[in-house]
Amino acid sequence: MTCKTSVIKLGGSLITVKNDLRTINWSSLISASDQLSKYVKDGGRMIIVHGGGSFGHPAVKDVIMKRGRMDIKGASYVQEAMLSLATKVLKVLRAYEIDVTLHTTHTICDCENCSYKNVVRDYRNELVPMIYGDAIPCGEEFVVVSGDRLAAEIASLLNVDCLVYAVDVPGIIVNGKLIKRARVNEVLEFLGNTSDVTGGMRGKIVEASKALGKVGKIVIVGGRNNGIIRVLRGENVGTELVG
Ligand SMILES: Nc1ncnc2c1ncn2[C@@H]1O[C@H](COP(=O)(O)OP(=O)(O)OP(=O)(O)O)[C@@H](O)[C@H]1O
Ligand SMILES: [Mg+2]
Repeated sequence: MTCKTSVIKLGGSLITVKNDLRTINWSSLISASDQLSKYVKDGGRMIIVHGGGSFGHPAVKDVIMKRGRMDIKGASYVQEAMLSLATKVLKVLRAYEIDVTLHTTHTICDCENCSYKNVVRDYRNELVPMIYGDAIPCGEEFVVVSGDRLAAEIASLLNVDCLVYAVDVPGIIVNGKLIKRARVNEVLEFLGNTSDVTGGMRGKIVEASKALGKVGKIVIVGGRNNGIIRVLRGENVGTELVG
């Protein structure tokens, strides 16, 4: 097994239906949970991070639209949307016999930094900690911390073998083709800016690249069709991000 230790980010694009408000993509979530359960049975150790999808992103947009900016009261609304997604993910993972322990991100993070002390404690105790992208109060405003960033940070802290971003596409596509190895600077040139609050694919590459040199490998992969377990077992699928 190539990836003895991993941080796996389950993208909102994979586990929710992005265009349907607060809708879980059950078949993808179940498939991802099944793959992660196989990984645990293989002896793999992991931390799970998940994104916002059609729970988090529309909630942030809603707050800005209705309240004019991301104020502190809006944080509660976004937090509820994310917690509601997190508990659903948690239930499915547990149904697949994964010993998940949920850490609400807004209680471990402040404006700039997150404290991973208890996340690491639980990881060392052979539990599977889970955190997620969230809204963090910061003065009179709040900041949105992306699951992409959290995944790269915790992966770097623990120097895991594999940092895996599971999404709804097979990897990074350039001119209609999946690229197997992507150099950060080159790929950023291809990817335009997106309106997504956490930066879409571009934001993901920017955050993921911060873990280069601190983890064994970074892969962006389609989470369906066994993409996650295939990466974890050392197969060459998806797009590997290189410096
Ligand atoms: N060149 C590209 N290759 C692959 N995907 C791309 C590319 N450009 C844009 N994308 C889009 O990026 C999306 C993945 O980023 P997105 O932020 O939507 O998903 P996510 O991070 O899984 O979700 P969340 O932010 O909710 O966790 C894909 O669904 C795809 O539509
Ligand atoms: Mg995203």
